[in-house]
Amino acid sequence: MAMRITPSILNADLADIANEVARVPSSDMIHFDVMDNHFVPNLTLGLPVVESLKKHTATPIDVHLMIEDADTWAPQYAELGCESVTFHAEAAKAPIRLARELRRLGSRAAMALKPTTPIEPYADIITEFDMILLMTVEPGFGGQSFLDSVLPKIRRTRELVRKTGQEIWIQVDGGVSVDTIGRAAEAGADVFVAGTAVYRAGDPDAMVNQLRDLAIT
Ligand code: DX5
Ligand code: ZN
Repeated sequence: MAMRITPSILNADLADIANEVARVPSSDMIHFDVMDNHFVPNLTLGLPVVESLKKHTATPIDVHLMIEDADTWAPQYAELGCESVTFHAEAAKAPIRLARELRRLGSRAAMALKPTTPIEPYADIITEFDMILLMTVEPGFGGQSFLDSVLPKIRRTRELVRKTGQEIWIQVDGGVSVDTIGRAAEAGADVFVAGTAVYRAGDPDAMVNQLRDLAIT
């Protein structure tokens, strides 16, 4: 199984995003956290910044929307050319319709679950998605500790994906590091967001490659 590393620029120098993205050329995607101070108690960046960043990098953009009213906003990120758009199950009114719209606009469609939101209610609709994001911290801030309590849900999600026979990626986000990535990979994750681990490393690009190697072994 291919393992993908998606550095989160939330933990980078946000006044210098284009250069921060250029520091991690080995990345499979760049993870872009959008927060609205309503769905989560923090505020980051939105559409105009993604639009600008798109002009500075060829690396695919993986947008993670931690916002209310995902149904209205998510398609606009797909229209900007974001390769993957993730909305939260807890925030979308019509997740199937929204996933289909994202795909129609040419983006991969992804759905995120907070650490305590179960996957089972969504078992019948996971084929509408290209990726399921299982949060391994409460969304809102970088630099938190990986929640081992999510590992059983990763395993159950991998089993549900296997039964579909489709290639649906399972992404984990929060507290991913050299110490935790092995456990997440063993449980069945294959896409790894890493903010602090990458951007606090002396050599961020070497860390991207090290994390990928640790996920494979
Ligand atoms: C948290 C964000 C994450 C965060 C990850 O709500 O969704 O993407 O930036 O940061 P680390 O890797 O430091 O936990
Ligand atoms: Zn994120």
